[in-house]
Amino acid sequence: MRTPIIAGNWKMNNTIAATKALVTELIPLVKDAKAEVVICTPYTDLATAVELTKGTNIKVGAENVHWAEKGAFTGEISADMLVELGVTYVIIGHSERRQYFGETDQTVNARVKAALAKGLKPIICVGETLEEREGGLVEEVLVRQTTEALKDIAKEELANIVIAYEPVWAIGTGKTATAEVANDTIKIIRDTVAKLYDKATAEALRIQYGGSMNPKNVKELMAMPEIDGGLIGGASLKAPDFSLVVNY
Ligand code: 13P
Repeated sequence: MRTPIIAGNWKMNNTIAATKALVTELIPLVKDAKAEVVICTPYTDLATAVELTKGTNIKVGAENVHWAEKGAFTGEISADMLVELGVTYVIIGHSERRQYFGETDQTVNARVKAALAKGLKPIICVGETLEEREGGLVEEVLVRQTTEALKDIAKEELANIVIAYEPVWAIGTGKTATAEVANDTIKIIRDTVAKLYDKATAEALRIQYGGSMNPKNVKELMAMPEIDGGLIGGASLKAPDFSLVVNY
């Protein structure tokens, strides 16, 4: 019922030259994918990625967007700028931005609203730290992050939103959440959305898993009923690896 969505998050990797090589190699490898395929690239690679993927089944996303329409925000990028480039998706609230760049639930919500207002599709990242998991706070953290991110977002907009559940302790560590843990935790997020909106809206929402997802564990994760895709870091940087994930 929900179309799976596999998205690469390149993070701060790949120059324009590297983007050309990677995307050119990737296009034929993923052309028959059943899942929706997205690559989220650094700002400087977006134009190249959009140009190269024209007429293919690969969509392009950014890794962040500012909440203001324009103005004195040195170093920031607006939704209009991304739309003009032909970008479709935008990652918002990644744990690295929360951890290193002062991102809060409130700024996540402001960015989501700005993206939606311009027709960009947010991929909203939520997830607990190891400390929070060990402290029994998983549900509290995810309910809070999900509720705040979606504050004042109309029900109709949920069709344009993807949520990525990324346990912080599984990112770049090689430690994947077991398929069961990922599934059960995503269920908490879906139940939260059902309470905020309604059951049908929650059932239609796509929720990805992210955190050391790779060609070896993708099948098991994607077999779980609550997991609708993946947000892939490390394994999205090599075309053969990413294509194996996409074609799970
Ligand atoms: P890794 O796949 O490298 O663990 O990164 C996951 C991630 O943060 C995707 O946004």
